[in-house]
Amino acid sequence: MYSGSKALFFALSRSAALKRLASKYGMARPDSFARRFIAGETVEEAIEDARALQARGMLLTLDYLGESVKTAAAAAAATREYVGLIDVIVASGIERNISLKVTQLGVDVDRATCVDNLRRILDSAQRHDFFVRIDMENSPYTEVTLEVFETMWQQQYRCLGVALQSGLYRTEQDIRRMNELGARVRLVKGAYKEPAAVAHQRKADVDESFRRLGHLLLDHGTYPALATHDERLIEDARAYALQRGIAKDRFEFQMLYGIRRDLQTSLVANGYRMRIYVPFGRQWFPYFMRRLGERPANVAFVIRGILGERH
Ligand code: FDA
Repeated sequence: MYSGSKALFFALSRSAALKRLASKYGMARPDSFARRFIAGETVEEAIEDARALQARGMLLTLDYLGESVKTAAAAAAATREYVGLIDVIVASGIERNISLKVTQLGVDVDRATCVDNLRRILDSAQRHDFFVRIDMENSPYTEVTLEVFETMWQQQYRCLGVALQSGLYRTEQDIRRMNELGARVRLVKGAYKEPAAVAHQRKADVDESFRRLGHLLLDHGTYPALATHDERLIEDARAYALQRGIAKDRFEFQMLYGIRRDLQTSLVANGYRMRIYVPFGRQWFPYFMRRLGERPANVAFVIRGILGERH
């Protein structure tokens, strides 16, 4: 069921008809169903939400949604959007932290295009004291994402980090490499359906791997981020850090916008750093479908939303 629902929703995320239907109803009004997971289609909406989260003591990262870009022109347009976003964030005074994807910057066109685009973003980010996180996409992109990351790192960019997935067998080795470099890692379970050749298939194994890799990061990582809504794993990380004398400001928890707000609030109240991933933009459909795939119970909530919109 775990990977089955991911595969189903991944396939559905490619459906043009479903995308049209969702796009019509999903974000039409402030109470539309996709708004639970997406901060809005415009940067102004995202900044408004970001301010409200900051007022509740949360840290932030803004993600201008987009992925699987197939032309150099579209990748250049996404790059311009990110450079523009940096300026808007600076002007707004909210925290300076963004997340992006290599397929958004043209890695499918060619690697050099992606590196050039990322460099443009990092030059601006560095000037304005931002932190930039490269999200991790599905396994055909793991190696190239890490290559792009290391290319920038070797060019002395230090304002960036990467996400790694506990579901993949290779991740322990990748974490050891990042720890050696002194690079910041965001650990996630992994949102994509992956083949048995590269990834654990049982949820219990993905969870156990997260627990173990979380310890590795807490012990040897550089300001790691543990990105999960899994209460058991959060409890485990808290206990481990306490037992090892790792202070609360040496790592952070991260969660997605709209998920487990209760837990977000209670961690902040207990003095932990909690960063919220705030996605926005018109290209929200694939991101939204991954959130449904993680928790099929969300589908009922969406169907109620669609029926409600039509009345
Ligand atoms: P799990 O799926 O076991 O869920 C634990 C609990 O969290 C559930 O019981 C439920 O209460 C709640 N929950 C989880 N997902 C929910 C949902 N969609 N709707 C409602 N409740 C939900 N992945 C990736 O491949 N590359 C990346 O770069 C990132 N980046 C990223 C950043 C941040 C800040 C987070 C929090 C997550 C990611 N992810 C990601 C997604 C990640 O890989 C994973 O798919 C989700 O976090 C869901 O897994 P959990 O760790 O929450 O555990």
